[in-house]
Amino acid sequence: MPFAIRMHRTGGPEVLSWEEVEVADPAPGEVRVRHAAVGLNYIDVYHRTGLYPLPLPSGLGLEAAGVVEAVGSAVSEFHPGDRVAYAGGPVGAYSQVRCLPADRLLKLPPAIDFQTAAAMMLQGLTSAYLLRRTCHVQTGDAVLIHAAAGGVGLIACQWARALGATVIGTVSNEAKAALAMAHGCDHVIDYTREDFARRVREITGGAGVRVVYDGVGKDTFAGSLDSLQTCGMLVSFGNASGPVPPFDPLLLSQKGSLFLTRPTLMHYTAKRSDLLALGTELFDVVGAGKVRIEVHQTYPLAEVAGAHRDLEARKHTGSTVLLP
Ligand SMILES: NC(=O)c1ccc[n+]([C@@H]2O[C@H](COP(=O)([O-])OP(=O)(O)OC[C@H]3O[C@@H](n4cnc5c(N)ncnc54)[C@H](OP(=O)(O)O)[C@@H]3O)[C@@H](O)[C@H]2O)c1
Repeated sequence: MPFAIRMHRTGGPEVLSWEEVEVADPAPGEVRVRHAAVGLNYIDVYHRTGLYPLPLPSGLGLEAAGVVEAVGSAVSEFHPGDRVAYAGGPVGAYSQVRCLPADRLLKLPPAIDFQTAAAMMLQGLTSAYLLRRTCHVQTGDAVLIHAAAGGVGLIACQWARALGATVIGTVSNEAKAALAMAHGCDHVIDYTREDFARRVREITGGAGVRVVYDGVGKDTFAGSLDSLQTCGMLVSFGNASGPVPPFDPLLLSQKGSLFLTRPTLMHYTAKRSDLLALGTELFDVVGAGKVRIEVHQTYPLAEVAGAHRDLEARKHTGSTVLLP
């Protein structure tokens, strides 16, 4: 029998247990995929802690790459032996083999190996919709990207630079600063030591940036608003430091008729046509060498609890892959 990570209650990394599971034949519209590599994402922490509630008991994980083993009836796009990858629900990617709806899969270009695919799908598709759908980044824009040396960060910074933006990144230490500078950032700010909003004003000659991409949440929300130009947009897309507390929308008016959106990848890829379009844009920038996918950590899937500990302790850079 195959193994998977299961959780029976929310809590710390210790709630993640490696268990034998039964995997049925694929239902109509489903495929069964044998995973070669599984992605680690911050949303997995929110699911584990219960910040984003899941019905329990549950599997975990939203991203993996592998080979199609079997297809259910009414599946014509995929065949056994196809190399595929996915990012998004239903949860359960922390597993050796699983069934999932065929319309969530993308076929992998031959040049993209499984570990790269598992590292890039969720963070890369996220970068795609952040930069190309929420606020369409264009040549000459100044943008601020928090946690620039992280999984989404390294991909988004390179991509924003390739789009012609001036990229300002924030990080928590010198090693991460060097990494962010080598991956698309024009300027890096250590937001644990400096007032990043003031530095952004200095860098932009007082104007502020057109858009802030903020996956840090609670600790950066106020400073992110203070970093924007008039009519700029805050894209608040994560809670690595905790969720943003309630605030008065009048603030948006007082700080320059600002726009705020709190998006999620799931809505931007809900339609298969949208998923395919974003996937093509992602494979294109990676294939063209404009965005390099950096797998900086790997862990055996069975030891994913340690990966969660390190992620929450801000020890990771780039992307992390779990090996089933
Ligand atoms: N809405 C969406 O569609 C969507 C999709 C994907 C990801 N996300 C969000 O994007 C963010 C980045 O995701 P990721 O998977 O690429 O993770 P990541 O950036 O690799 O890891 C999180 C980073 O956040 C920074 N951070 C700042 N304060 C922190 C704190 N108190 N605790 C932990 N980390 C802190 C750390 O970088 P420094 O040490 O440099 O500060 C850390 O490395 C997450 O918030 C995630 O939920 C959202």
